[in-house]
Amino acid sequence: MYTVYVAAPEALHNTLTAAVKSDAEAVFIGISGDLRQALDECALTNPGCLVVHDDLLLENIGLMDQLAQAPYPIILIGPETTATAKRALAIRARDLVGLSNWEQDLETSLPIHAAKSEGAMDEPGRVQVVFSSKGGVGKTTIAVNLALALAKSRKDPVALVDLDLQFGDVATLVGILPQATIYDVVAGDMGQVDRMRLERALINVPGTRVNVLAAPLRPEEADEIHAERVVRVLQLLRETHAFVVVDTGPGYSDVNVSALDFCDDVLTICTPDVVTIRTIGQAMRVFREGLRYPDHKVKIILNRAGSKTGVEPQDIEKTLGTKISYQLPSDGSWPVKAANQGRPLQLLNPDSLLSRALTEMAQDMVENIYGPSRNVRNVQSRPKSTLFSGWRNRGERRRS
Ligand SMILES: Nc1ncnc2c1ncn2[C@@H]1O[C@H](COP(=O)(O)OP(=O)(O)O)[C@@H](O)[C@H]1O
Ligand SMILES: [Mg+2]
Repeated sequence: MYTVYVAAPEALHNTLTAAVKSDAEAVFIGISGDLRQALDECALTNPGCLVVHDDLLLENIGLMDQLAQAPYPIILIGPETTATAKRALAIRARDLVGLSNWEQDLETSLPIHAAKSEGAMDEPGRVQVVFSSKGGVGKTTIAVNLALALAKSRKDPVALVDLDLQFGDVATLVGILPQATIYDVVAGDMGQVDRMRLERALINVPGTRVNVLAAPLRPEEADEIHAERVVRVLQLLRETHAFVVVDTGPGYSDVNVSALDFCDDVLTICTPDVVTIRTIGQAMRVFREGLRYPDHKVKIILNRAGSKTGVEPQDIEKTLGTKISYQLPSDGSWPVKAANQGRPLQLLNPDSLLSRALTEMAQDMVENIYGPSRNVRNVQSRPKSTLFSGWRNRGERRRS
């Protein structure tokens, strides 16, 4: 995958955009009829390639030095004349595409000369929505610490998206103060979701490969966030992140249902109490009968397993009519301590019961999806854990 920016006279914008987009590997990131503006935007985004039309170059001879020093490859499109060839040399263009057959020549030239995007992956990342029909069951605690655990198991980054649009607290849990949130990426009448704006809104959790897209800062902003734009955000994030972990608010809002439809895995959080089990039972019916999700898409995660509530995992499996995929233990006051300090539990205490169980769960997920790797312990060869029931042999889609 590589990104392309185009600087060309406005009359040519449509044909040039279409030509760039005809290559499935190319991600079109912008176009301008103003060469100075194009250079400013490229300084921010460092595209895989800048395509410049000779007409713009002629109008801006003063910018040729700046172009010659650009850190990204440039392809010049122009008439087959000695003067254009000289300009191509002066700006150190990687290629000169003549006007006679420019569409086909550009299509050949781009994949050869464009720099592959850093972080772009060969295949899209896995989108996992952490869901529950009930609040307070541990969704956010699990989403945050699972994202961190997944990031330890893979070299590619992991995105953590807070879709609890009114009361999201992911940013607080990881101790960041967002300057921009999902609201700045999708709200208003901005046409397409803008990749650059999305990248600028992502906040890295220091010392990790986790990038957070925070929930809106004001609850009323949630009303302006539309489901189809949220799906586009998830689509873009999966192109550059091995996992996209999505925290949600409780219930079946349009945004939640769209994210659930779009994702690969619905991680449904249950706790061992009758009220929660009843609402999860209703959710399972919605998934099966209303939304018609295949069984393997929905995974039950039992949080606070081992709490002496009088409800055993077998009772839960019987009531829900499905196996529990993972069990996560109660971890005393550690999750609250971590939240109070604004430091994720995985970083504050990687050896706590919940941290260890989530690390094990993440390793198992990575292995199931990407196959065994040297980063990951072999599940079959390790001692059986009482906190682990695994996904093996459940008809899980495996990527080779
Ligand atoms: N396994 C656990 N052990 C101990 N406390 C937990 C555990 N899971 C969640 N908690 C605590 O339960 C409360 C609710 O968790 P939270 O993640 O905010 O739930 P939700 O996002 O579903 O509303 C928080 O105070 C959190 O620290
Ligand atoms: Mg929450």
